[in-house]
Amino acid sequence: MPSVYIKTYGCQMNERDSEAVAAQLVAKGYSLAPNEHAADVVLLNTCSVRDNAEQKAINKMENLVGKLRKSRPSVVLGFMGCMAQSRGKQLIDQLPDVDLVLGTQKFHRAADYVNELLAGTRRKIVDTEEETGSEATIKEHLLLGTAKEKQVTAFVSIMQGCNQYCTFCIVPYTRGEERSRTIADIVDECRSLVERGVREVTLLGQIVTSYGKRDIKLKDGKSAFVQLLDAVHEIDGLERIRFTSPHPKGYGDDLVEAYARLPKLCESAHIPLQSGSDRLLKIMHRGYTTERFLTIVEKLRKARPNIGITTDIIVGFPGETEEDFEQTLSLGRQVRFDNSYIFKYSPRKDTPAAAMPDQTPQVILEERNQRLLTLINEIAAEKYNQLVGQTVQILVEGPSRKNEARYMGRTRCNRIVLFDGGERHRGHLMDVKITRTGSFTLYGDPAILNLD
Ligand code: 5AD
Repeated sequence: MPSVYIKTYGCQMNERDSEAVAAQLVAKGYSLAPNEHAADVVLLNTCSVRDNAEQKAINKMENLVGKLRKSRPSVVLGFMGCMAQSRGKQLIDQLPDVDLVLGTQKFHRAADYVNELLAGTRRKIVDTEEETGSEATIKEHLLLGTAKEKQVTAFVSIMQGCNQYCTFCIVPYTRGEERSRTIADIVDECRSLVERGVREVTLLGQIVTSYGKRDIKLKDGKSAFVQLLDAVHEIDGLERIRFTSPHPKGYGDDLVEAYARLPKLCESAHIPLQSGSDRLLKIMHRGYTTERFLTIVEKLRKARPNIGITTDIIVGFPGETEEDFEQTLSLGRQVRFDNSYIFKYSPRKDTPAAAMPDQTPQVILEERNQRLLTLINEIAAEKYNQLVGQTVQILVEGPSRKNEARYMGRTRCNRIVLFDGGERHRGHLMDVKITRTGSFTLYGDPAILNLD
């Protein structure tokens, strides 16, 4: 039985795509290799959002070619996902040992192509075509583990693509136009996950707040996305709902109200800000002002006072002045994000920003990155420290990855809590008292021990 190893770069959408490809291969009789060394097939699921994510995957492939190809000439090596989509055959021209280049609308063809390559009926396969209906093909789950080791949380892909065309972003080119699955299809998938032990789902898409915009009409003032949240919320046995990534412009009053109305919807929101300068937001083609962003945060905090708000910020967008950057710092101080992901601007192929004058010099990128990171981390640490002594609800996912003796759960605000637990806690919602904090980790003591 051939074995496959998949390495994933980038976002949760990529993790989900890798899981679906792995599930598909397992269904065809493949086993999953724990690492690349013994695998018959090695697939790299790639990210194109910044240049260094692409370089990492290319370096890894060069390394695999050097290590594996010589000792095992029959190994199948492939790129899939965003970089495969944007670079296509060029990847094989650059790395002739690569056998497969599989685009973002073709994940469901992975097993067929790998079979053909292993059997030797084809020597190279590049498939980066568009495919109608491909948004509904990412639905198989691995749900690893025995009945005793149930998977507690799962990602569910609800849509593909993005039509926002932010001037810095490659995603509309790698993921294509927005296409959404139907509410019934998504609910069916969530329901079957719950039947198999899942307690929390994260609804995924490149711009989830635009879900179903073209196909599903407003109903009682509710957008398609909120109608989907309502429908998923109905599922018995499902305890928690999350989603990512939204766009700030999608936080209409119907979504804010959904936070107030739907108890399963976790009080956690990742709202990508990108910049605190209105001038830059406009050039970025973001479609909101800082004032609008602040109003959304205020409304969400009113609806759910404990909501955890995280964001993405780009430093050094072309033409970013010191004044623009200081406005970002100032907005960071004003909002007090629970955490932020900071990205140094990276010019991307075919995006308008890559051709803009005044690209920011590397030293300034580094310097602004450091200054923003210091501020963001300081605020995040204060927020973490405020939790010490408080009792929070966690959903226990399983043993901690770093230390198997500890168990790990997440708070509703999506913070990781470690505690001395056991298998009996897996899948349970439990209250823990936070005793201390580590860097982006909380340590807790179970407040209730009656779960046996
Ligand atoms: N350079 C740097 N960061 C980027 N992002 C998207 N495109 C770029 C780019 N060209 C960041 C944005 C987005 C996150 C996923 O990646 O902040 O929200």
